Amino acid sequence: MSDRWPKWLKLNESLKDLKPYGAPQISLANRLNTNENPYQLSASLQASINAAIAKEVKNLNRYPDRDAIKLRSALADEIKRQSGLSFGVENIWAANGSNEILQSIALAFSGDAMGFEPSYSMHPLVNRSVGKKWISIPRQADFSIDLPTSLKAIRDLKPGLVYLTTPNNPSGNATPIEHLEQMAKTCQEVGAIFVVDEAYAEFSNNVSALSLLNRFPNVIISRTMSKAFAFAGVRVGYMIADPILIEAMLLIRLPYHLSSLTQSAALAALTHSQELSAQIAKIIDSRKFLAKELESLGLIVIGSEANFLLFTGFKESASELFTKLVDKGVLIRDVSIPGYLRVTIGTEDENKAFLKALTSIL
Ligand SMILES: Cc1ncc(COP(=O)(O)O)c(C=O)c1O
Repeated sequence: MSDRWPKWLKLNESLKDLKPYGAPQISLANRLNTNENPYQLSASLQASINAAIAKEVKNLNRYPDRDAIKLRSALADEIKRQSGLSFGVENIWAANGSNEILQSIALAFSGDAMGFEPSYSMHPLVNRSVGKKWISIPRQADFSIDLPTSLKAIRDLKPGLVYLTTPNNPSGNATPIEHLEQMAKTCQEVGAIFVVDEAYAEFSNNVSALSLLNRFPNVIISRTMSKAFAFAGVRVGYMIADPILIEAMLLIRLPYHLSSLTQSAALAALTHSQELSAQIAKIIDSRKFLAKELESLGLIVIGSEANFLLFTGFKESASELFTKLVDKGVLIRDVSIPGYLRVTIGTEDENKAFLKALTSIL
């Protein structure tokens, strides 16, 4: 890989062997590959966003609020609505998608980075890109965390950052709060920051790591408006943490990183957050329906608490089945785990189109 760069190009050493993030963007009728929310924003929410943006347009000659105070305060209210736990502006940082949050964490804090894989591919990528060593601890065959092995790895290798995704992407399974607590405690013992990536938390009944924050100042919860909020196109992610960690984020954020349009659109969306609960319930019902249907086709489905399913048990290779589905107008995801494919929960029509295409292939 490294010989693809010419000698004269002074590319950072840490970037030479990396591959860019590259979920295929193919415009097929049924796109079930990037865990987006399949439903468009409601007409009333679209109207609120349009009104908020129209008001903001007059002020586009001015920089936005650098500290995004109103947005962070609305996000704190939303977290309270979801969890009953009180946080203030000082506990929240917001950025352009949770990917920017994850990158900011990698930029701000020292030490090696550790994760439990397979998991979200951006965790190693953002850490390697800033020159950190990435330590990969394998998950068990059922994709759960091997707790004793994981705690021992944290104690022995003393990373600066430990990443855990729950519900996990690409497997969908969640890590119980008792395990999260032990990991937070072990991280605290070795001076590591424990980053819990909860991009899919709203689809799960599992207890969130938010409940650990008052006892563990070394915990960061990363969340996003891209999934449950159906806001992937706007790019808003946020983290909830001890105020001292939020202060560290101010050191590396670029001035005015969140545009006025982003901030006003997100604020408008947050005023409609209750509408989303019904939609989330619908996606969870579809997940249950789709899992049953896949099982009735003789496939094995990993128990998921997210808006996607990882499945196995088909005869052809993952890439062959992926390509055959593309040929039938259905885009799902080859997540580079041999024998497994991941499908995002779509609308009823998309789910049916996927099942029809799959049945005709198997
Ligand atoms: C586990 C996880 N974290 C973070 C993200 C990034 O989401 P965004 O940058 O849209 O907030 C994703 C996107 O798929 C994800 O799966």
